[in-house]
Amino acid sequence: MTKLFINIKELIQVRDASIKKVSGKEMAILPTIKNAFLLIDKGIIIDFGLMSNLPIFKVDKTIDCSGKMILPTWCDSHTHIVFSGNREQEFVDRINGLSYEEIARNGGGILNSVKKLQETSFEDLYQQSAKRLEEVIALGTGAIEIKSGYGLTFEAESKMLRVIKKLKENYPIPIKATFLGAHAFPSEFKNNKKGYIDLIINKMLPKINEENLADFVDVFCEKGYFSVDDTDRILSAAKKYNLIPKVHVNQFNAIGGIAIAIKHNALSVDHLEVLTDEDVVHLKDSETMPVALPSCSFFLRIPYTPARKIIDNNLPLALATDYNPGSTPSGNMNFVVSTACIQMKMTPEEAINAASINGAFAMNLSDKVGSITTGKLANFIITKKIPSYGFLPYSFGSNLIDSVYLKGNKI
Ligand code: NIG
Ligand code: FE
Repeated sequence: MTKLFINIKELIQVRDASIKKVSGKEMAILPTIKNAFLLIDKGIIIDFGLMSNLPIFKVDKTIDCSGKMILPTWCDSHTHIVFSGNREQEFVDRINGLSYEEIARNGGGILNSVKKLQETSFEDLYQQSAKRLEEVIALGTGAIEIKSGYGLTFEAESKMLRVIKKLKENYPIPIKATFLGAHAFPSEFKNNKKGYIDLIINKMLPKINEENLADFVDVFCEKGYFSVDDTDRILSAAKKYNLIPKVHVNQFNAIGGIAIAIKHNALSVDHLEVLTDEDVVHLKDSETMPVALPSCSFFLRIPYTPARKIIDNNLPLALATDYNPGSTPSGNMNFVVSTACIQMKMTPEEAINAASINGAFAMNLSDKVGSITTGKLANFIITKKIPSYGFLPYSFGSNLIDSVYLKGNKI
């Protein structure tokens, strides 16, 4: 079915297919067409351009977008939306003075979600997760990565990955699955860390590969969690199964996680709230996408990823939500884009690039999503009537989405 969108006030993020990511000064440029049309067919972008050059098309449906803008749906390259229950008590504990790390040391944190997840049935977990996915799609997310990591046994990790697989089958949105067995050490392995890493390497990875349940592998490389050597071992083992790394690094401490992730050709390194000059040197010598998660900084009251340091060093940067029950109970990419502008001093152009084309790169989905490009999926947001695209991050907290299209269908 052909659909023609006309009188688009501004068509945002129009790109040639050759552009896979934008770095440094290029991030300040957001290519747009004012007073544009957009033609889609069978869920794919076919043509776009100036209204004054509109060819004569025979179409099934014409949609008038006067006063409204169209931009590609957000690409959320880092989430943990498959989880069970919530952790409001830890939220209150932090208000009363405990830190995220103290709560984890007292047996809360990730292990709290692990206990809940292990006790939850596949069907219940699927229903809870599907609800979150529907929520973020309505907020404009049109491609998403989802991690395991709240199971920490083969059975529970596999349950999470099978939930992700079922979401992939049932929703019209590109989903990438990441195996994060190395998210925390289960309490049974508190005094036998090597034993847990052996279990990941000798049992979990081969079985997950056999069932083709994951696209990527992740490790929480952090003091008190997985060391640089542990990360090295796990990523080396994952390489045998062609699992590309996307790694949690530098959330609280810079312990050398970035260098080891880059050694393993990581697709992305995520968090980076602390970032040394040496880390920047490693990033400059790589194709790895740095990913910032400003909602996590906002919620935990920890430093924001130094976006200016990254971009001004001519590096690319992507933005993602980190939606999870502990550090970021929100999957709202509009809030992420606003927060990046307000707290990380990114311009609206930089933030929109980071949340679309660079996010697509961080999921290996550059050929499908992330820009308005002929041949890519017709996944886009139609805004309400707005004066400029800068109004989107400026009006933080307002919902300025009129409608979301996935594969050409209005959701
Ligand atoms: O990305 N830092 C590690 N993992 C998650 C938080 C997990 C949790 O607290 O449940 C994150 O912030
Ligand atoms: Fe995370």
